[in-house]
Amino acid sequence: MARDGMRPNGAKGTARLTWNRKGEIEGGKTEKAPRAVAWCEDGKQVDAATDLATVASRNRLIEGDNLPVMRHLLATGSAGRVDLIYIDPPFWSGDDYYASSDDGQDVLAYKDRWDGGLDSYLDMIHPRLKLMHELLSPRGSIFVHVDWHAGHYIKLLLDEIFGRENLRNEIVWWFGGPSPVKTSFPRKHDIIFFYSKSKDYQFSPQYAPMKQYLYDRARKDPDGRLWVDQNVGKITRRKFDELAAGGRVFETKTGRYRRKQFLDEMQGDMVDDVWTIPIINSQANERLGYPTQKPQALLERVISCASRPGDVVADFFCGSGTSLVAAESLGRSWIGTDSSGVAIGTARDRLLKVGGCRFSLEVV
Ligand SMILES: C[S@@+](CC[C@H](N)C(=O)[O-])C[C@H]1O[C@@H](n2cnc3c(N)ncnc32)[C@H](O)[C@@H]1O
Repeated sequence: MARDGMRPNGAKGTARLTWNRKGEIEGGKTEKAPRAVAWCEDGKQVDAATDLATVASRNRLIEGDNLPVMRHLLATGSAGRVDLIYIDPPFWSGDDYYASSDDGQDVLAYKDRWDGGLDSYLDMIHPRLKLMHELLSPRGSIFVHVDWHAGHYIKLLLDEIFGRENLRNEIVWWFGGPSPVKTSFPRKHDIIFFYSKSKDYQFSPQYAPMKQYLYDRARKDPDGRLWVDQNVGKITRRKFDELAAGGRVFETKTGRYRRKQFLDEMQGDMVDDVWTIPIINSQANERLGYPTQKPQALLERVISCASRPGDVVADFFCGSGTSLVAAESLGRSWIGTDSSGVAIGTARDRLLKVGGCRFSLEVV
């Protein structure tokens, strides 16, 4: 039972996903030590002359299959040390994905075709999810980005590996947009499964930006602070005097008192489990030409809610490096891996443009 990822304490007899060879194809037991090829700092890449093992708390961008890389991380002391994992793996879409390059040529970035059908896709993702579970810290979480193709299968695997009780959210990322499809409802959302390693996990609620109409309605104090007016409400004389002394009450033309509610002390609505964030459109500055690139705003929300500055964030299918750039800009350490040279080249160039970003570039 334990061989196929069944949790030892878990729920013998509980419904679960099975397929031929489940748990048998583990991609070999090999772990491969990544070889550092360069050190990147101040927007420049230099050959890795120094022994990078001596560079403390470095960020790592690693080209190669994530299975041996994760095995290596586990074998070198990273078990239980990663605070947040976000992955956006191939979706079992049956397509090839091309990146557009500067000279107008499309280059193959990665394939999402599986000769053995769904079973071979599950053979790929299942052992990797188990290694991610081992890497996560006790208060850590994983966000698994999928869509309608295989999301329902992956959820069952996550239930099995992380425990159904640790499913925190099934987030819908709704991106909208036009569609030529007329034979069914256009598919305009992805799913992000948020599981924690335990019931004691890191989480900070997120708030949407405040509504524009509040800014449109706001008045300005001489010091530049913006406020909207509110009823004073039923308060004691003492409380009223306190508010007045703090410049939080004003008198209207008709001689009534109103309260000032400063916008910098207000929060927008709390974010729920449906996230409306626009997809990167063809004209967006953020667009790099890497297929299936996700918006940075999406990754900033994931990283902000489930980690703190200084934490370690990992993305083992990092593509163009969106999560790594978001982690860097939010003051987290990061590890990114991808098996595509096109992806790693794109992520490296992107990270080199982020001021103060330092990382090793490695290959397995
Ligand atoms: C959907 S894309 C990720 C896009 C990324 N989130 C972004 O914003 O650019 C999936 C990535 O997984 C990578 N990949 C597929 N199999 C892999 C494996 N076994 N090890 C490492 N990376 C893999 C692909 O090369 C591809 O870049």
